Amino acid sequence: MADLQTPTEVSLLSTSNPSTESAVAHEKEASTKVSLSEVRIDSTPTSTVANGTTSAVTNGASSRPTSTPTPAPISAPAGIEEYDDPPLFSPSLIGDDVSSSLPEGYSIRPLRRSDYSGGFLPTLRVLTTVGEPTLAEFNARYDFMASRNDTYYILVICDTTGTVVGTGAVIVERKFIHNMGLVGHIEDIAVAKNQQGKKLGLRIIQALDSVAARVGCYKSILDCSEANEGFYVKCGFKRAGLEMAHYYEKAPKMNL
Ligand SMILES: CC(C)(COP(=O)(O)OP(=O)(O)OC[C@H]1O[C@@H](n2cnc3c(N)ncnc32)[C@H](O)[C@@H]1OP(=O)(O)O)[C@@H](O)C(=O)NCCC(=O)NCCS
Repeated sequence: MADLQTPTEVSLLSTSNPSTESAVAHEKEASTKVSLSEVRIDSTPTSTVANGTTSAVTNGASSRPTSTPTPAPISAPAGIEEYDDPPLFSPSLIGDDVSSSLPEGYSIRPLRRSDYSGGFLPTLRVLTTVGEPTLAEFNARYDFMASRNDTYYILVICDTTGTVVGTGAVIVERKFIHNMGLVGHIEDIAVAKNQQGKKLGLRIIQALDSVAARVGCYKSILDCSEANEGFYVKCGFKRAGLEMAHYYEKAPKMNL
């Protein structure tokens, strides 16, 4: 369903959680930002997608995801790794065409709990301040997201060694407007410094677009700095507004 919002729409969505980031990061992120939007006219009807079962989607490797999302295995540990460490969402939401476009031996898959100890957090640090979350803190946040796996879709790209070298997220917002429309908010796009320029950023956005369209979003939007506008334009986005942010004094976090 096409969105008729005008390009002058102002995004009021903040790109970071102020309570978790440093003042330095705030200053950096508060620099001029634009809001970009990709209007989707070919999205599938709104649907609820459960967590899935299959493994990473690797270019040059054997496995391919199933075409239909299926429930995560909870009793039959055919793949013990999947049983203990299921993907955050169904890998089948990531388009096959994206995985086949990756460099040889690279793979793209949903985030897993075990990514705490891989390159996930170091990769995010090319974007902004991350802090030093403990394993317990990471797992608690992961479990929160996993319990809402029709809302949080975080994916990673791994290199030939299985190390995470790229990541991105789309968070699905449910609206009353636009006939109970769904909007994807693209967040936290990062590619490890030594992996930039290999089209991994582009593949991350294409994969997030695929997820957003398949779960029924009518558009995806994001905020970025002027310096990154060209990248998102190459990914099919166009300037659609101006981001505004209101940062708050650090307060004790609610137990959410
Ligand atoms: C921005 C970022 C994600 C791009 O990832 P990448 O893997 O290096 O980019 P890609 O190789 O996929 O680039 C795809 C295209 O965009 C272009 N591009 C990449 N970054 C660009 C930029 N900042 N400005 C203009 N064009 C850019 C590339 O040249 C390429 O163009 P081509 O198809 O004509 O060759 C990456 O540089 C990064 O992680 N930066 C630090 C974190 C960050 O700023 N994230 C974005 C937050 S909004």
